[in-house]
Amino acid sequence: MRIEGKEYRTIWFENNVVKIIDQTKLPHQFIIKDLITVKDVINAIKVMEVRGAPLIGATAAYGLVLAIIENNDQSFLKKSAENLINSRPTAINLKWAVDRMMKKLSGVNSDKILEIAQNEAKEICEEDIKFCEKIGLNGLKIIEQIYNKKKDTVNILTHCNAGWLATINWGTATSPIYHAHKKGIPVHVWADETRPRNQGANLTSYELNEEGIKNTIIADNTGGILMQRGEVDMCIVGTDRTLSNGDVCNKVGTYLKALAAHDNNVPFYVALPSSTIDWKTKDANDIPIEQRNSEELSHVEGIDENKELKKILIYPYKSKAMNLAFDITPAKYVTGLITEKGISEASHESLKKLFK
Ligand code: MRU
Repeated sequence: MRIEGKEYRTIWFENNVVKIIDQTKLPHQFIIKDLITVKDVINAIKVMEVRGAPLIGATAAYGLVLAIIENNDQSFLKKSAENLINSRPTAINLKWAVDRMMKKLSGVNSDKILEIAQNEAKEICEEDIKFCEKIGLNGLKIIEQIYNKKKDTVNILTHCNAGWLATINWGTATSPIYHAHKKGIPVHVWADETRPRNQGANLTSYELNEEGIKNTIIADNTGGILMQRGEVDMCIVGTDRTLSNGDVCNKVGTYLKALAAHDNNVPFYVALPSSTIDWKTKDANDIPIEQRNSEELSHVEGIDENKELKKILIYPYKSKAMNLAFDITPAKYVTGLITEKGISEASHESLKKLFK
């Protein structure tokens, strides 16, 4: 998608270097960063220079390419794979991508290993783009239905950033929106600010602006009253891990939006590629929920009047804070799962049928 009119992907590989857009600096600074070692990749995932489930998976895949360039040794590769998987605990795409890479690379001692790794990491990216585009076309049908009934702007609420910046291109939750916009359907997005990292304000609103899509940032607690007032036609969110029973783990606050949507008969959709489905875990209580540094809550970052990035403390300095990064939305609150293969009910039977 575009930034200042120029097409970008979120990650690419050039001259043995992984190139990323540093998302910790957006929207105020657009910086392309070089990742040279597997340690750089692990750090980029941890500090969220790259974030969003599909993108951290793809970045980890390239992390293994860098590991091979650094030290073409099977035990180094294995250790790097473990460290990459542990860099963030919740999004299943990370493990999915590393496992997929290791299936191709384990035990390969020939000179061909680098080429194999590069091809597989590239394939993970290309596949994600293809899947996100299909998610868009499938989700478009729902937006079209609402528009055909309403004959007026379709108001869509989203939480966090499940946009192209969270994937390689298109995004998951935003892909139906981009497709609707391209088709001339008037859409307007309510972007939840998404405290504490403000992915909704800093990333979703930013990327929608760059594509010319109308959007309004709202505080995380505003969605409820907007739904009561009939100002939300549908919600679409992304997910970091969806269990085969349809329970959805996503950015903290998603659950509260789903409850409000349920109470107000607003359809609540979750958009995801199949790489986000966890077929193994049976109970949502077993999903590891990331707890991040409380400094992300107690401090805010922005630019001052001289356009310099500043970080300031906003809490009483003696106060404790707790920063859980994700929550679980039970399947019963999910209207449907928009996948690359079509729209599924949030249930084991329906998902199994689609992904036989
Ligand atoms: O902590 P983040 O910014 O990595 O969290 C991202 C989300 O919660 C997204 O909704 C999810 O990864 C889906 S991205 C298509």
